[in-house]
Amino acid sequence: MGVRPNDALIAPWRDEPAPLLPILHEFHDRDGYLSEEALRDISRALRIPLADLYGTVSFYHHFAKEPGGREAPRVCTGPVCALNGAMGILETLPSSGGRAMPCAGRCDDPVPVLKGSEAFVVSLDNTFETRLSPLPARPPEGIEECVFAHIRERSNGGLKAYQATGGYEGLRKALVGLTPEEVIREMETSGLSGRGGAGFPTWRKWKAVRDAPGDPKTVVCNADEGEPGCFKDRALMDHDPHAVLEGMALAGYATGAPRGILYLRYEYPDTARILEEAVAEAEEAGFLGESILGTNFSFKIHVRRGAGAYICGEETSLLNSLEGKHPFPRNRPPYPVTHGFENLPTAVNNVETLATVPPILTRGGAWYAGLGVNGHAGTKVISLSGDILRPGNYEVPMGLPLSTLLHEWAGGPREGRQVQAVTMAGLSGGYLAGTDLDVTLDEPSVRAKGSFLGAGGIMVFDDTRDMMEVSRMAMEFFAEESCGKCFPCRIGTERLTERLAGTAGPKVLSAWIDEVNDIGATMKETSACGLGQAAPLITESLLRYFPQRVARHVEG
Ligand SMILES: Cc1cc2nc3c(=O)[nH]c(=O)nc-3n(C[C@H](O)[C@H](O)[C@H](O)COP(=O)(O)O)c2cc1C
Ligand code: SF4
Repeated sequence: MGVRPNDALIAPWRDEPAPLLPILHEFHDRDGYLSEEALRDISRALRIPLADLYGTVSFYHHFAKEPGGREAPRVCTGPVCALNGAMGILETLPSSGGRAMPCAGRCDDPVPVLKGSEAFVVSLDNTFETRLSPLPARPPEGIEECVFAHIRERSNGGLKAYQATGGYEGLRKALVGLTPEEVIREMETSGLSGRGGAGFPTWRKWKAVRDAPGDPKTVVCNADEGEPGCFKDRALMDHDPHAVLEGMALAGYATGAPRGILYLRYEYPDTARILEEAVAEAEEAGFLGESILGTNFSFKIHVRRGAGAYICGEETSLLNSLEGKHPFPRNRPPYPVTHGFENLPTAVNNVETLATVPPILTRGGAWYAGLGVNGHAGTKVISLSGDILRPGNYEVPMGLPLSTLLHEWAGGPREGRQVQAVTMAGLSGGYLAGTDLDVTLDEPSVRAKGSFLGAGGIMVFDDTRDMMEVSRMAMEFFAEESCGKCFPCRIGTERLTERLAGTAGPKVLSAWIDEVNDIGATMKETSACGLGQAAPLITESLLRYFPQRVARHVEG
């Protein structure tokens, strides 16, 4: 008897790390959906109980379980796309089964539509085109960049352009002349902390992985970028993929990990192709793979695509997703540095964090630290979108005044309009009102306002926008994306959405405020991960800055 077609599709992945997601994508791409027969065969081959596999597959937005489901177009209805007419586009697609999808990470571009394995933007004349992330604008005179310093020359240029601008010199310097401990010390001098949201010092994470017992260790690049209003990682990967790969290899050398996994959000199909090509090119040239640059350091990178779930950006949920488990966040401690991928020491780092590492190695930690202003170290990429003349990614010195970015770099709001509010940390940091923008772009300054900078997404809403409606959409997103593991978040986000929509809750203002504050406080204290802890910042900041709008909403 010959090999059954389903087994032939599974076989090449069986001995690879993190095989479930690529196998599911293979079947989904081949059949246009995940059939019961396919799931039964996968369950048998990977020894995952069928009921668990069904639960896991249903958790992701992307996988269709009905024939033809893969081809149904999905329209981004994230906060900025909603401002840009996403609902109108969705209404033109009902005959093809068009569905809404949460923020697709393209807030500096026209509304994106995903169809099969392609992502398009819909132009005004209703034609579909594919395109890469817009390149970042050049900074004002006198501003020095780090991760964007060469991105414009490297874009589309492959390995040749990367090497012509100093690429892989950091790796060479480290492998030939520095011990892993010296690499970690350079990172300490740089002051680099995680750019994925939590801001943990990179050198401490790497040292903890290096010191932890257990092999093989793993470097995971978190390229899930699901936070609405964040699109910086996509730009880095589209235009400078080798910088991310070199950063991963340096993290592998420093921590003692021989393998890296890049977990890419499903909504970036063009980026997936670019990364796969860059990995092949780097392997061919001896910068990845066995005995890199003739040394005894070997490092292999595997690209894995997610399947549409915001919570998979949370590092422990991401690890469960890679391991083929239901992607709930894990209880911590233990932390991934000691018990990460396959329960072994793992450094999970964000794309921007990793892309910052090669220039730190070539130019020195002190150089990087000196790029910040007012006592802050380094730079931060801010994804700026919404009601602003020049949306896009900006690499700013850490500590730059927010108003300088908004008004001098990005042109301010449209003529005759005022900034009513901006979000911080994408959506997770809630709002700062336009009347309270006296902050600098660094964690201590933004935290003093009750918010946080996080991954650096800032969405601007001008004075024509209804902040109650914006808040309802934001909370609906959190309710939709809550993984449901703990009830304060699962139920709290729903209750807050109902109150913001006006479909439930007291009709007396003081009672409404007490109830909303009470739900929010409970969520902050008892939710197990950052999603449930951050979502109440939306209602908190709405009440702080827009009390009259809330009063009209509740009492009419
Ligand atoms: C709900 C939630 C979503 C997250 N999404 C992302 C993400 O998309 N990308 C990312 O790098 N970090 C994300 N994080 C933060 C990660 O858990 C983790 O802190 C980060 O990947 C560590 O890398 P860093 O130290 O380089 O920042 C998220 C956290 C939470 C709570
Ligand atoms: S806080 Fe929300 S998203 Fe996080 S684990 Fe609990 S239910 Fe899941």
